Amino acid sequence: MAYHHPHRLLLVFLAIVATATPSIAIFHFDFRFDTDGPFSGGRLSRRDMWRRAALESKARHAATSARLAKALGKPCDGTGSATAGDISAADVTVTPFTHQGHVLSVGIGTPPQASKVVLDMGSDLLWSQCSLVGPSVAQEEPVYDPSRSPTFSLLPCNSTACAEGAFTSKSCTDRRCQYENDYGVLTAGGVLATETFTFGSHHEVAVNLTFGCGKLTNGTIAGASGILGLSPGPLSLLKQLSIPKFSYCLTPFADRKTSPVMFGAMADLAKYKTTGKIQTVPLLKNPVEDLYYYVPMVGISLGTKKLDVSAESLELQADGTGGTAVDSATTLAYLVPPAFEALKQAVVEAVKLPAANKTVDDYPMCFVLPKGMTMDGVEVPQLVLHFDGGAEMMLSRDNYFQEPSPGMMCLAVVPSPFEGAPSVIGNVQQQNMHVLYDLEKRTFSYAPTQCDKL
Ligand SMILES: *[C@@H]1O[C@H](CO)[C@@H](O)[C@H](O)[C@H]1NC(C)=O
Ligand SMILES: *[C@@H]1O[C@H](CO)[C@@H](O)[C@H](O)[C@H]1NC(C)=O
Ligand SMILES: *[C@@H]1O[C@H](CO)[C@@H](O)[C@H](O)[C@H]1NC(C)=O
Ligand SMILES: *[C@@H]1O[C@H](CO)[C@@H](O)[C@H](O)[C@H]1NC(C)=O
Repeated sequence: MAYHHPHRLLLVFLAIVATATPSIAIFHFDFRFDTDGPFSGGRLSRRDMWRRAALESKARHAATSARLAKALGKPCDGTGSATAGDISAADVTVTPFTHQGHVLSVGIGTPPQASKVVLDMGSDLLWSQCSLVGPSVAQEEPVYDPSRSPTFSLLPCNSTACAEGAFTSKSCTDRRCQYENDYGVLTAGGVLATETFTFGSHHEVAVNLTFGCGKLTNGTIAGASGILGLSPGPLSLLKQLSIPKFSYCLTPFADRKTSPVMFGAMADLAKYKTTGKIQTVPLLKNPVEDLYYYVPMVGISLGTKKLDVSAESLELQADGTGGTAVDSATTLAYLVPPAFEALKQAVVEAVKLPAANKTVDDYPMCFVLPKGMTMDGVEVPQLVLHFDGGAEMMLSRDNYFQEPSPGMMCLAVVPSPFEGAPSVIGNVQQQNMHVLYDLEKRTFSYAPTQCDKL
């Protein structure tokens, strides 16, 4: 099902400083974008938005886990107790990618052709549908046509980007670097090229970037034209422009408000109003793949009760398994199975409501709300994630429970799909939290924040 709704980009502030020395020019990519949320302009009820996002979350996590399993050399064929093969993206309804992503506008080419791209923390390539590679899936904006842009140029197979890019598959045909990427709910492919991209609607800044002149090969991105990847991979805009840090503050997606995303000097938690203290933990790198940003979670508490979960069971291993990733496009939280079981048991004890005999969709555990009552009337202890060094991330009820069906209050935390798959702090957990990835200092900072007031 495709939703063709208007996405907006509001450029609130833009500062570009170009420091020219005789031989080098340093550009600071200092931007704030107010991105449209996953369901903006749609007409789904809050509950339907939650359910849909949870389903897509499963497809996304299945696909990224499968990619991870491949990178980690784990079996992915259903052998063993639980592998990525147990859950495949094909098990779930394929719905638009933007139901998990946030959308911003860019201009591609000279003169700029308008395009809307979905931010994605789980991939690095920036790509747009492009008339050069054949017919595109319907999108809101006219499809980008490189023949109308003198700044477009194809990248050869021996280019660094073609060599370094971690694509699902790639080949060299007619000296063009052809790639295909599987995003779980969609696949997209194309050819690598360079082009001038323009950011900002009032004060424009143009930069030359490596990107994918591509098309969707399966699935939909709900009228958007492409994807802007922000993962730690080598092809991201962050690496290409040496952007030292970025931050975002997600409003609850069911509120349909915009969410700010900041780059460069604009990304600074101390510059903005927070509703709690700023805490900082190291940003870890997976030794075998660049799919995610990791943080050192070492324990979990529910209220004041420390759960029986060992730091070792949460640790990112030298072989790339385990650990805790932060992802803005995975809706639910994922916990490695022993941690999930401990949390589930503690929640049953702490929540003074009858556990439901049936769950909703794929939510693993739900409680029955008293007649006529919504989740807003239920008090639960805070879920506390403990990090190495002593930092704590406090999650309130709305950061780990949802009401996907009337009268049912369900845990928005699910077990990781296979042995070795990471725990994930998803976007429900990050709602109303300003989070910052400092790529230079290798730190991750966060502070509770009223994101619609930022
Ligand atoms: C698209 O994906 C669906 C669901 O995974 C699959 O059944 C179908 O064969 C795919 N189509 C193409 C053209 O790859
Ligand atoms: C790539 O190949 C072309 C033609 O074979 C050659 O001229 C060019 O120097 C090569 N570039 C790199 C980066 O190796
Ligand atoms: C981008 O590349 C084009 C073509 O090589 C060049 O003319 C232009 O000046 C470059 N633009 C920027 C912003 O670097
Ligand atoms: C669950 O099922 C049992 C046995 O059928 C029943 O006694 C109980 O009331 C049910 N609980 C809820 C919350 O519906």
